[in-house]
Amino acid sequence: MAEDGAPIGVFDSGVGGLSVLREIRTLLPHEDLLYVADSGRAPWGDKPIDEVRSWSLDIASFLTARGAKAIVIACNVGTAAAAEAVRAALSVPVVAMEPAVKPAAEATRSGVVGILTTVGTSESDRFRSLLERYGSRATVVTQPAPGLVEQVEAGDVTGPRTRALVERYTKPFKDAGADTIVLGCTHYPFLKDVIAEVVGSDVTLIDTGPAIARQLQRVLEGRNLLNPRPEIGTVRFWSSGDLGVARRVIPALYGAAASVEPFPDGRPG
Ligand code: DGL
Repeated sequence: MAEDGAPIGVFDSGVGGLSVLREIRTLLPHEDLLYVADSGRAPWGDKPIDEVRSWSLDIASFLTARGAKAIVIACNVGTAAAAEAVRAALSVPVVAMEPAVKPAAEATRSGVVGILTTVGTSESDRFRSLLERYGSRATVVTQPAPGLVEQVEAGDVTGPRTRALVERYTKPFKDAGADTIVLGCTHYPFLKDVIAEVVGSDVTLIDTGPAIARQLQRVLEGRNLLNPRPEIGTVRFWSSGDLGVARRVIPALYGAAASVEPFPDGRPG
């Protein structure tokens, strides 16, 4: 039985989930947080779904072995591949995420919604079923965006190559008259400024991170697992990628000093 003082485990294919971690830190400042970036194997979006599932299970059990009282899959493609398997394997609550098709279909005024996402998410059964359920409420234009995850992994969120990719991938949204764009990958909130510059400030960008943090809060509250102490919580980071890059990019994107340990060498035993 997990205790309220235990940490929350969060993971992603790489540094994208830091966009969710920031929201969790803001909403739940007293919680201790553990974060695994599987940057050595990112992007997950172009990898076989079975492999993504097995990596997700591996990381989730690494986090529960370190006492996590809840797991957040801060990754859309990880959710599509592994949410059921991770829930079945663990006894702690699991919060997972998917592109915000429903809120976008409800918010659009032009009746056209753009979904910017990875190839893996766009081809997943979970995404297909989301579109079946909510896609008929608006015209939905789905645009996979290979290469963007790599730019964020390298810490390049504003450079000319990143901007060129954003211009290319948002053009179909512009052409179709979309007034609402879903950031269907947790790496993309780091590109919000560039995306907003390219598509214009009258287009609404939907980031699922704040809703995931609220969902986590509800889940912990419902189980009496919110940390009651008054102190600010700690954060620990692991990365399976190049540590030199991780130690530069993670603090920059998270927005605070951070030490990063190697994953999976930090595995207990
Ligand atoms: N941040 C992951 C997501 O939300 C990126 C996927 C990838 O690595 O391709 O889907």
